Amino acid sequence: MLFTNLVQANLKTRFLGKQIEYYTRLESTNSEAWELINVGCDDGTVIITDHQFLGRGRGGRDWASSPNKSLTFSIILSLKINSKFSNWISIISSLAIQKALNSFSTEVELKYPNDIMIGQKKLGGVLCETKVSKEKINHAVVGIGINVNEQNEDFDPSIQNTATSLQINSKKLYQKERVLAEILNQFETLIDQFPTNINSIKSSWEDACNHLNKIITFHNNNEIIKGTFKSLSNSGNAILEINGKEKEYFSGEII
Ligand code: BTN
Repeated sequence: MLFTNLVQANLKTRFLGKQIEYYTRLESTNSEAWELINVGCDDGTVIITDHQFLGRGRGGRDWASSPNKSLTFSIILSLKINSKFSNWISIISSLAIQKALNSFSTEVELKYPNDIMIGQKKLGGVLCETKVSKEKINHAVVGIGINVNEQNEDFDPSIQNTATSLQINSKKLYQKERVLAEILNQFETLIDQFPTNINSIKSSWEDACNHLNKIITFHNNNEIIKGTFKSLSNSGNAILEINGKEKEYFSGEII
């Protein structure tokens, strides 16, 4: 159960979350978002469900979430910005989550491209999908999954050693509505100033990153690369140093 009026009472936004589509059960909030875009909906519409039963993760993987305990939602954006900025949308999403959780006194770290981490355990992730025409992003769907009130036994045994939740971390229950509202507040502040604020996004993301200047293993297409993660590029891509030379990677993730 989620009270959409409680979300909206905590919003300080101009357009994000003014329209909330709430479902008790849904296959995937990202898939539902694309269907809504096809029939027409407001910029900033949020789709949220208590029970997502066919959640989609990055790289074609599944995303499992515990009914009622996790936050699973998608934000619809019609940005009309150049497609060269696509990567920044997911960087902004992770940063908005980090800043929002910080305001609940919860320190999280970011792992490229958009994992939300507490220590070595994954708290959440972002699946950002875009539709581009004539080099402009027409629509973006930002899908966010965060483990909020789960106990370890709520996770599938296969991820019990690698996943965590806000409740496991702080031994407190969280009001999902307030967490959602604060993510939307932070998100709108960052996206409203974009792309003028790229440098500040870049430095805030790098400050929150848990592998800056560390040796990491990177999966890029079919290649496994070992290198030092140096920074984000001006396009929001990873810059790795390998054998003393810096190289920008346009896709890929840390494993
Ligand atoms: C990842 O693989 O780390 C990204 C996971 C993103 C999951 C979220 S949950 C809400 C939204 N709907 C989906 O089907 N996926 C995203």
